[in-house]
Amino acid sequence: MEKILDFIDSNKERYIGELKKFLSFPSISTNPENKKDVEECARYVKEHLREIGMQNAKVMPTKGHPIVYADWLNAGKDKPTILIYGHYDVQPVDPLNLWTTPPFEADIRNGNIYARGSADDKGQVFIHLKALESHLTQNKSLPVNIKMLIEGEEEIGSEHLEEFIKENTELLKCDVAVISDTAMYDEDVPAIGYALRGLCYMEVNVTGPNRDLHSGQYGGGVDNPINALAKMITKMKDDKGRILIDGFYDDVLPLNEEEKENFKKLPFDDKKYAANLGVDELFGEEGFTTLERIWARPTLDVNGIWGGFTGEGAKTVLPSKAHAKISMRLVPKQEPGKIEKLFTDFVKKIAPKTMKVEVKGLHHGKGAITPIDSEWIRAASKAMEQGFGKKPVFIREGGSIPIVVTFEEILGVSTVLLGFGLPDENAHSPDEHLNLNNFQRGIITSSIFYNELANLQ
Ligand code: BES
Ligand code: MN
Ligand code: MN
Repeated sequence: MEKILDFIDSNKERYIGELKKFLSFPSISTNPENKKDVEECARYVKEHLREIGMQNAKVMPTKGHPIVYADWLNAGKDKPTILIYGHYDVQPVDPLNLWTTPPFEADIRNGNIYARGSADDKGQVFIHLKALESHLTQNKSLPVNIKMLIEGEEEIGSEHLEEFIKENTELLKCDVAVISDTAMYDEDVPAIGYALRGLCYMEVNVTGPNRDLHSGQYGGGVDNPINALAKMITKMKDDKGRILIDGFYDDVLPLNEEEKENFKKLPFDDKKYAANLGVDELFGEEGFTTLERIWARPTLDVNGIWGGFTGEGAKTVLPSKAHAKISMRLVPKQEPGKIEKLFTDFVKKIAPKTMKVEVKGLHHGKGAITPIDSEWIRAASKAMEQGFGKKPVFIREGGSIPIVVTFEEILGVSTVLLGFGLPDENAHSPDEHLNLNNFQRGIITSSIFYNELANLQ
């Protein structure tokens, strides 16, 4: 191991240079105009996997963006096979003017690397590539069998991945999955995640009059779709943060006392949290702590709303249409399909007669929860402790990685969430960055983790 750790230490600068290249592809999966960039990025990942000594590296097409696969299976049948999943696609960069430096020209400032995808998830995927490289160059082998699955549609709901997994169950057969696409609890507080929230993402389109109208000639005569939509939105949640959709909470898995106690042991300061976000008061479902609300309770939020005149100055118009994107974070056991139906029925029920209302489901993801007393988690915990010099804490995550449930249902394996990001690294937002210390410690932790996994047997 000494040799490997020395190698990681002396190659620091080179890693950062290579990561910059990976971060330079504008692989924004949701933008049709970036389709070529997404493909080029996939080819880059495949090529890099081949260069570090992984075998069978290939770009596998889907009906959407391609999936990159590679493996190294020479550790022997008595060693476990680990499926490492990550994503090379990224979120859009808007608003561009809020970036200090261009999102696809990585810049290093005060110990962080700034670029879209640095934390979510290219930087974290790269951690594994470099950990694998350190074993493969120093030992000419890996301590366990490894399969890599790096997809290009995570940020748009992993639309084609489930089908891909169903069609390739033999190829992807493994003992456990590992994902580095979440965050540590805090700086210097390494964490292992054991739960993710699910997601149900909807769009509501409201139409009033058949064309935009002069608000003087017609105002007072017909209802306004923006007013109507706003009114409908206020009926979805009460003042205490409770969602009012009929049946919404029916399947919610309640927190048990032990988990509540564990949450309470984690350092958390509501005041600091609020100050960091620039708000005077926090808000959320009454009767739950902030950590409980963001990790283990469902939510409903408007992601965007538009319609009418939004240009500079004033235009007196009574618009024909109004639109909103509304998403609900779900907890394990809540079925996104069922929630979509409950939401649709509710919106239809509260829709005023003055409007035509269309409700569309955009995408779904199931929440996941895994036991923390598995041998896999024990190995991860030992590796984290060595890599960070501190025992990790066990946390839930508020975000979603829908494929975790698919791994469980189709491949029959649990997932270890080994996150190396920080909660305030601006994922999905301008000036996304990754702490380079954690990048380095992540490489060390991952390379130790592979050894720990080999020692389980
Ligand atoms: N890496 C995130 C998920 C995440 C972030 C989990 C932080 C835990 C903590 C992932 O890339 C992501 O953004 N997922 C989407 C899911 C969606 C597009 C189906 C999300 O959570 O919004
Ligand atoms: Mn991610
Ligand atoms: Mn993301």
